[in-house]
Amino acid sequence: MTGSNRADFFRNVIAMAPMAMGGNLPYRRLCREYGAVNTCSEMVLADKLLKGGERPLLRHHESEVDFGVQLTGKRPEGMADAAVLAAESGARFIDLNFGCPIDVIVRRGAGAALLKRPGKLTEIIAAVRSAVNIPLSVKLRLGYTAKKLNCVSLALAARDAGADAVCIHGRTRAQRYRLSADWTLIDEAARTLDIPVIGNGDILTPWDLRRRREETSVSSFLVARGALIKPWIFQELKSGSAHEISVPERWSIMRRYLDFALEHFGDDERGLGRAHRFFLWHLKFWCRYYPWSEEDFNLQYPDSLLQARTPQAGPAADERLLASGDESDHEVIWRRVLDRDYENG
Ligand SMILES: Cc1cc2nc3c(=O)[nH]c(=O)nc-3n(C[C@H](O)[C@H](O)[C@H](O)COP(=O)(O)O)c2cc1C
Repeated sequence: MTGSNRADFFRNVIAMAPMAMGGNLPYRRLCREYGAVNTCSEMVLADKLLKGGERPLLRHHESEVDFGVQLTGKRPEGMADAAVLAAESGARFIDLNFGCPIDVIVRRGAGAALLKRPGKLTEIIAAVRSAVNIPLSVKLRLGYTAKKLNCVSLALAARDAGADAVCIHGRTRAQRYRLSADWTLIDEAARTLDIPVIGNGDILTPWDLRRRREETSVSSFLVARGALIKPWIFQELKSGSAHEISVPERWSIMRRYLDFALEHFGDDERGLGRAHRFFLWHLKFWCRYYPWSEEDFNLQYPDSLLQARTPQAGPAADERLLASGDESDHEVIWRRVLDRDYENG
């Protein structure tokens, strides 16, 4: 593949973000059905992969034609060897994680810790670049802290080291999710670089996407929590309008996820246990769904709706149940989906 073909792979896409737990294969398959273009593995620890672990994370469903693997680590040779393994197992692209804020990762000098070490970061990119010829993206944050917002210079260095695209999450490592994402520097990077810059942060509705398209030069986007709250977001973003999904539809979407999970994990006791665990995890996001309108978006602007509290659900009992954040309600939902005890309801 030539460099320009590899960069084109990331142009004008609305991709599903790499997400630990949330980016499990059955869930990616569901999002793919709703139009997610690029899908990505959960974060894979390169050193663990090389010791024989993490292998299940490299798997993808046949529908995921543009599936990529995200690697985390700090050793250039290790990251390069892991990229080769990922490519051999069918990854269409590699993403390098330079944004993970989690303490255990940062303490080991990987993830967002590398935002503070541009030399090491580019060494890793160059090593991976020379090991594989498939498209290569890197995922950055604005910087490590608000005092050192170095994502534009890191993006340029990443390009020079061989990255085909740069994804920027509009927050610092220190910020976590407290404030709305800031797209100012993402825009600056998009105007500066000649490779695609993928914008990331708080895309929850078609109006968020329209706003970022109008206010910035960014033309590729990455969606994380929006996809966890409503897998049909990819359809909404493509059509430009909100899709109000009824309560019966929400039940059947959950059932579809369960079917995919049982197909993937197996429908024996062990598989069912894993499906249960993932299902309960997903409910913590699904319960946050609310049919936001354009008016809600305008009222919240310029802050993100993702920062807003989810309003109360409507009066119907099932609507209230599906909006509940209560773990005992989540067990009730699980049981009803498992028994298909929502049909004709
Ligand atoms: C549950 C969860 C898991 C995540 N795991 C990863 C990960 O493994 N690798 C990564 O680069 N980012 C990870 N992220 C960050 C997202 O990819 C994304 O950058 C961030 O959530 C901002 O996008 P959003 O506003 O659309 O949610 C995770 C986010 C969430 C909510």
